[in-house]
Amino acid sequence: MNITIVRSINDLRSYVRKWKKSDESISIVPTMGALHAGHLSLVREATSLSDRVIVTLFVNPSQFESTEDLDKYPRNEDDDIEKLTPFNVDLLYAPQTDEIYPSGHSTKIVVSGVSQGLCGDFRPGHFDSVATVVGKLLAQSLADKAFFGEKDFQQLHVIKRMVLDLDLPVEIVPCKTIREPDQLALSSRNSQLSSNDRKIAPILAQTLFDAADQIKEGVDVATVLYNSKEKLIRSGFRKIDYIEFRADRDLRVLSKFDECGRIMAAVYLGKIRLIDNVEISKY
Ligand code: PAJ
Repeated sequence: MNITIVRSINDLRSYVRKWKKSDESISIVPTMGALHAGHLSLVREATSLSDRVIVTLFVNPSQFESTEDLDKYPRNEDDDIEKLTPFNVDLLYAPQTDEIYPSGHSTKIVVSGVSQGLCGDFRPGHFDSVATVVGKLLAQSLADKAFFGEKDFQQLHVIKRMVLDLDLPVEIVPCKTIREPDQLALSSRNSQLSSNDRKIAPILAQTLFDAADQIKEGVDVATVLYNSKEKLIRSGFRKIDYIEFRADRDLRVLSKFDECGRIMAAVYLGKIRLIDNVEISKY
């Protein structure tokens, strides 16, 4: 199926109006492109749960740490369109920056609490930018459901909190992390790893899975976190921003395994920052 591409809010809204009139349910899958099987798993889930699916492709400049990081971000719209072709996607919404941030744009969504700590401590303002752009995409699309990956677990919590606090009439659907056979979580940034760093990268996920097993077996949480950090440093990760055990439900710091939790980490391999998390379920 040929995918329809729209670039303006007006064009997007004219499709949405038509669908709403015929009572069709609408899902949105926000992305920054450079699509991989992780993104496509969200798309597949969205197509199975709704009548109409909008995939958005917008590399949001304000959520990048530096212009160098933004410039390096992989972009290939033709490739993305090809990857979406086998799916039943109705629209690709790929706006230019001035459609999202027209001159004079001055409103920001700030979600406190869950935005603090973890990545929030290392990327000041990042989650305000994510919340603002996602809030805009939800308002522009009037979607009934929106799909987000657990890979970005803090981002998922920020978006859920924003939707709750602003009474947005949309259901947030979390989707499991998709991994390479060696357990490395798929990420658009993986393609920027040198071939040597690509060999080291899976040690992050493997370390988190090992840590999860140990915590489940009853080993002291602080000891597990300390040993995991040491292992990552020994393995060649340049800098560990954090490795922490947090509550699945609300990201509270957990010092004991007394409820479902996540081991969450952000690390650098060379200049590339990787994040990952592994669930530790009580059930
Ligand atoms: P991006 O990194 O392109 O990710 C788009 C969506 O795909 C996010 O919900 C992310 O969690 C999910 N995703 C990425 N890798 C995944 C994997 N390996 N398995 C499952 N899902 C995965 O996240 C963003 O874009 C942006 O911050 C955005 C929400 C679009 C706002 O600009």
